[in-house]
Amino acid sequence: MILDVIRMGDPRLWQPSFRVEKFGTPELEALLQNLRDTMVAQDGAGLAAPQIGVPVQVVIFGVENNPRYPDAEPVPYTELVNPVLTPLSDAMDEDWEGCLSVPGLRGVVPRYAHLRYEGYDPRGQPIRRDVAGFHARVVQHECDHLHGILFPMRMRDFSRFGYTDILFPEAARAPSE
Ligand code: NI
Repeated sequence: MILDVIRMGDPRLWQPSFRVEKFGTPELEALLQNLRDTMVAQDGAGLAAPQIGVPVQVVIFGVENNPRYPDAEPVPYTELVNPVLTPLSDAMDEDWEGCLSVPGLRGVVPRYAHLRYEGYDPRGQPIRRDVAGFHARVVQHECDHLHGILFPMRMRDFSRFGYTDILFPEAARAPSE
């Protein structure tokens, strides 16, 4: 089911989410179906459960030929439960981010360049990956939602924050957000 994405200002987005205790349940499957449907409908690169009003530690992400991120390197579609992130170095990258909860805006956000993420798939199988670049950025963005953090709260330079169509007027296709 395609659901409305909660937008910045709603206090539900500031709250930390609960760990999932039971895997493979109909409730978890339904949540993932709703996350998938909603992310695809909005051309999102990722979506976290609290963005559709469910305060549990579940995120999905994946990018392949996404019109909102035409230059992004591909990220495999992933469903990640109870994630834990560990930076693999102190190196930080800066790049533009957007968020379905912050529609129409983009900003430059510093993120760890290399990190390990660990967690579970919806059936309880462990996931562990070492990633870099855009993949690492997307994971950090989505997992921040589980701690009540939106990308503007990570920004350091608000001169690089603005409306997508003003920042990128040359974009061939207007973002869907
Ligand atoms: Ni987001």
